[in-house]
Amino acid sequence: MNLKEMVGIEAAKFVTDGMIVGLGTGSTAYYMVEEIGRRMKEEGLKITGVTTSKATEKQALGLGIPLKSIDEVTHVDLTIDGADEVDPDFSGIKGGGAALLFEKVVATYSRQNIWIVDESKIVAKLGKFPLPVEVVPYGHQQLVTLFDQKGYEPKLRKNETGQVLVTDGGHYIIDLHLQQINDVPALAQELDTTVGVVEHGLFIGLTGKVIVGYPEGPKTLEKR
Ligand code: A5P
Repeated sequence: MNLKEMVGIEAAKFVTDGMIVGLGTGSTAYYMVEEIGRRMKEEGLKITGVTTSKATEKQALGLGIPLKSIDEVTHVDLTIDGADEVDPDFSGIKGGGAALLFEKVVATYSRQNIWIVDESKIVAKLGKFPLPVEVVPYGHQQLVTLFDQKGYEPKLRKNETGQVLVTDGGHYIIDLHLQQINDVPALAQELDTTVGVVEHGLFIGLTGKVIVGYPEGPKTLEKR
């Protein structure tokens, strides 16, 4: 079993009958969604899912998981999602799979968020993984120039066919190659107040539990 599958299965154990569950996006969350589907089929588990991307929606529907949109529920009990990097404060970078906007919306309205990562994602400082910034297409080139002037080494994200990638929300993504982020809240605030930026991949104070996959087994870290 690979580490992503291990943590996906481990996280699905926190799902109980009747929960409204936020279903994350990415290659790690994939296994969690599969495991929930298996538990529903084999153990009779009953949940309602709220998906964070078109890709997860397709997967969940294929597994027969009943879904509601984020606007059809009063809250989400638990969201399980992957992350690209996690630091000792449980701040993280997300959005490697381009789903950061919907992921942040669902995480914000969730009573509990669990992240599932393999050991390689645990870092002392965020920033080696390029920070995704979701922007409106109108004026995006101005933002590329602005970020370039700040030394953020921006790169407009393209898809496999070389076209500009369009997110599920209809926006573009500019990846910032920062190498190391020394003041995470300050950068988040700067991006939050930059016109044209819809959302960014810095997730701060949203999760209290991270399940990390190690070759010897999964380890659940709780925020102190
Ligand atoms: C999706 O946009 C992301 O936030 C993912 O949750 C994150 O990139 C982790 O993805 P993997 O599990 O595929 O590494």
